[in-house]
Amino acid sequence: MSIKSKQAVAHPNIALAKYWGKQSFGHNLPAVPSLSVTLAGMQTSTRVTFDTGLDKDELSLNGAPSGEVELGRVTNLLDRVRARAGFQDRARVESSNDFPTASGLASSASAFAALAVAACAAAELDASAEELSDLARKTSVSAARSLLGGFAELRAGREGDETLAAQQVAAPTHWDIAIVVAVTREGPKDVGSSDGMKHTMVTSPYSAAWVAAAPKMFELVRAGVLARDLTKLGPAVEQSALAMHAGAIAADPGIVYWTGATVEAILAVRKNRALGLEGYLTIDAGPHVKVLTRGSDAEAVAAAMEKVPGVLRTIIARPGLGARVVS
Ligand code: DP6
Repeated sequence: MSIKSKQAVAHPNIALAKYWGKQSFGHNLPAVPSLSVTLAGMQTSTRVTFDTGLDKDELSLNGAPSGEVELGRVTNLLDRVRARAGFQDRARVESSNDFPTASGLASSASAFAALAVAACAAAELDASAEELSDLARKTSVSAARSLLGGFAELRAGREGDETLAAQQVAAPTHWDIAIVVAVTREGPKDVGSSDGMKHTMVTSPYSAAWVAAAPKMFELVRAGVLARDLTKLGPAVEQSALAMHAGAIAADPGIVYWTGATVEAILAVRKNRALGLEGYLTIDAGPHVKVLTRGSDAEAVAAAMEKVPGVLRTIIARPGLGARVVS
């Protein structure tokens, strides 16, 4: 019997310029470029053990056996690793998050980033950061960005792309910003990102406009990050999120990720900004509102968001490291 085992950690990321929609060609290629910040303080920890004694892959999430859908996505990634390593051993995957999945922080991004790193290390593959990012991207696009620390970008897929990896734009120490998450609901979301974006791309009359407009927003966000200029990139961050949601809302039937508290929180961010507390909102495939602000303003923004009707609690997150092997 042969056993090979490694553990890796990865952090969630929040896109400041959103990815929403896949290309009709290639494999899991994003239709638009995106840029995110990888967050410290919250992590997924994943151990992969290739064991010749197993006859199928096994997955436990936070100590409980996973459902078939999650296991299918994990096997999909492991199959690529096995093909490259030239063996067929099945694996036991034990993954846990130290943050609640209902916090609205993309747990699939940190999950597949940690899985890619742990699986390649356990298989004794000498994979570069680019290869690991591409491997994670093939299962979940946003996971490609969690491979990298700090600020990471992923360009749109092009016809003929066999590989596509995220790149670091700037290190975590480049810019002292914070993301304040205003949690507006406990419990899982209604429509997952993969299904939501597919439905949007196929049925929304706004999807072509989104794909055409997103690159400009991405460029503004990128320039603002490089210049450490919150006032410059903030409006593009908000437009990217609101345009993404406008496309989903206009789908047939429309997907509304928001609740009343989401709208209250959006209005509060803008009101606080007018009063001099500078923050810009972004929203993922769920009802929570995330506020990008200066690191020194994080506590004040969190206190202001906690006063908003329907906001249950806040989480303050700051730029963190990329995915890595821990043992
Ligand atoms: C709204 O990466 O979860 O968080 O590629 O189908 O796994 P798949 O989708 P996923 O979508 C993330 C969407 C988003 C925006 C973003 O992270 O850029």
